[in-house]
Amino acid sequence: MSDKVKLAPSILSADFARLGEQVVAAAAAGADYIHVDVMDGQFVPGITIGDGVVRAIRLHTTLPLDVHLMVDSPERQIESFAQAGADIISVHVEACTHLHRLVTQIKGLNVRAGVALNPSTSLETIREILPFVDLVLVMTVNPGFGGQTFIPQMLDKIACLRELLDERELKAELEVDGGINAELAPKVVQAGARVLVAGAAVFNDKESISQAIERIRASCGG
Ligand code: DX5
Ligand code: ZN
Repeated sequence: MSDKVKLAPSILSADFARLGEQVVAAAAAGADYIHVDVMDGQFVPGITIGDGVVRAIRLHTTLPLDVHLMVDSPERQIESFAQAGADIISVHVEACTHLHRLVTQIKGLNVRAGVALNPSTSLETIREILPFVDLVLVMTVNPGFGGQTFIPQMLDKIACLRELLDERELKAELEVDGGINAELAPKVVQAGARVLVAGAAVFNDKESISQAIERIRASCGG
């Protein structure tokens, strides 16, 4: 557990009417990234956030904006999200035919490139792209909704990916996304995750954003 664990609150569960305020609160509480879940109503059923929202929250924080594109034909969206101020853009391997081209395109826009995998997608699908990416996002729920239950079998997948990265001395960040809370955080970190996305566990009615972030951080010694 060498590197510091990063927390990436997902604004999917935030109060959209007070988004700027909630992003500022998350940053003040020590968030490392702001995770932005983009859904297009095709790759996943829901429609969420467009580049205009990224542009708007960009004005409220200097934290890296970690944009997770759950969209078909992501190559059509890269440029507008980069221009809007995204610092990291992750695309789903399931949505890409020419993944290497797309990763190169993202990095060419001075944005860090990530690849995301659905729970059922094998790590084999990213073996060749690993040296080219800055981040791998392991979905620990099926994409599409916030507040779902973590799929425990994903712990093995996280551990396998950690091994794949370490044995090749690759520096891509290992991010996990879906159902993460203070109880699960130490387990995913133990398995090898270094960036934890959390939506419902950060933005909820039971505690403040800062209490929630502190609790997750304390749970995994980060
Ligand atoms: C799921 C999204 C996740 C998710 C995180 O489609 O990619 O980022 O909303 O939210 P929680 O932590 O509530 O599962
Ligand atoms: Zn996400």
